[in-house]
Amino acid sequence: MGAVNLWIAYRIRFFVDLLDSGSVLHLNFMPNIIVTGGAGFIGSNFVRHWLKQSQDGVISVDKGTYAAAYDPEETVEGERYRPVAGDMSDRALIRQLLHQHRPTSVVNFAAETHVDRSILFPEEFVQANVVGTFNLLDEVRRYWEDLPGPEKDLFQFLQISTDEVYGSLLPDESPSDETKAAAPNSPYAASKAAADQLVRAYYRTYGLPTTISRCSNNYGPYQHPEKLIPLMIHRALREEALPIYGDGMQVRDWLYVDDHCSALHTVIKLGRPGEVYNISARAERTNLEVVLAICALLDREFPRRRGCYADLVEHVADRPGHDRRYALDSSKVGELGWHAKESFESGLQKTVRWYVTNLERVNAVANGGAYRTWSKVNYGQRR
Ligand code: NAD
Ligand code: DAU
Repeated sequence: MGAVNLWIAYRIRFFVDLLDSGSVLHLNFMPNIIVTGGAGFIGSNFVRHWLKQSQDGVISVDKGTYAAAYDPEETVEGERYRPVAGDMSDRALIRQLLHQHRPTSVVNFAAETHVDRSILFPEEFVQANVVGTFNLLDEVRRYWEDLPGPEKDLFQFLQISTDEVYGSLLPDESPSDETKAAAPNSPYAASKAAADQLVRAYYRTYGLPTTISRCSNNYGPYQHPEKLIPLMIHRALREEALPIYGDGMQVRDWLYVDDHCSALHTVIKLGRPGEVYNISARAERTNLEVVLAICALLDREFPRRRGCYADLVEHVADRPGHDRRYALDSSKVGELGWHAKESFESGLQKTVRWYVTNLERVNAVANGGAYRTWSKVNYGQRR
């Protein structure tokens, strides 16, 4: 089946699902999707989103690294969700799950994701992100090749990638679109770019229906407190220094995690095999602006006894190879009908409230041995 016919098949499936969710049509089968990394930040938000928006079963394969910080089973309910503890590199496990659940889609979120860790422990990133993606992709390809016609035509593999593969932009450069060549600058970004190339090659060589999404910096509930926004909220509430790398003028393009999930939903339903889709809300802010915005929200809602939160800001040694600016042109996914709902201001307010309300859970992660060791290793060397 050609790419255009396949795209039409996806569209038909999308409208059937729409009718189904309106109870107009009742289909007598329950499709499944398999996600990897479903216990991480974006993966767990996506699992919740997908269970709410569809009638599908969701099988999540997650290795349970330090980054699987919050237990998704606390907030994900129902018989349609099945968490499996395992590594995407475990080919026997992946084979068994594919044959048992016969998914319509496999969505690969699983990865090592923290740039600072990739600078200190690059090998872990090559193993997880390159070798892991290869093993998963190759098992999926073998499974897909043996599928009967209709199942084969509807199947897809979505690789969750990142804007970091495009590398750094100059202040006045246009946002990166999907035609821009990869120019990764950190071991993390290089490992993600390598995984993208494998996914592309499996489409070109074997015809496996793959799509790749590349999104900008996500923020929102359930993010690990090693990442900028939760780190700053959490440290501010503990009256600890707020460590800004270098001059703090690096620019990131911020996307609320629910908006990312709805964009992925659109790509799964309407995306064309072999294509790449950027996902962004075009909310460029310097790191200093982000941190000061968090401080201002906290000043308003949880004032300190003396002074304001911005007094805690401390400039520390910069990240080696630190990319100065990311910005994405996501008009291609816009053509499929997606747009972001949250502005940076509304999303940040929701996020700050979530971390304040869930402070005990965040503290439980931050008080753990692994996090304390990491903080010493990463921040100890910067002062
Ligand atoms: P995260 O670090 O919060 O979670 C990653 C999850 O993957 C963890 O639960 C971990 O246990 C799991 N995992 C790691 N290796 C695995 C393996 N070999 N097998 C099975 N599970 C494994 O990550 P995140 O921030 O939710 O990112 C999810 C995906 O989105 C990643 O691929 C990342 O590159 C991409 N991404 C993230 C952002 C962002 O801002 N967070 C932006 C763009 C793209
Ligand atoms: O752009 C997408 C990427 O965003 C994803 O692919 C990565 O998985 C995700 O971790 C994120 O990478 P960043 O390096 O941009 O995120 P991080 O939260 O680590 O840092 C955001 C910015 O804040 C970055 O410029 C570094 C800076 N920073 C970060 C930390 C942790 C600080 O100034 N101080 C800090 O303590």
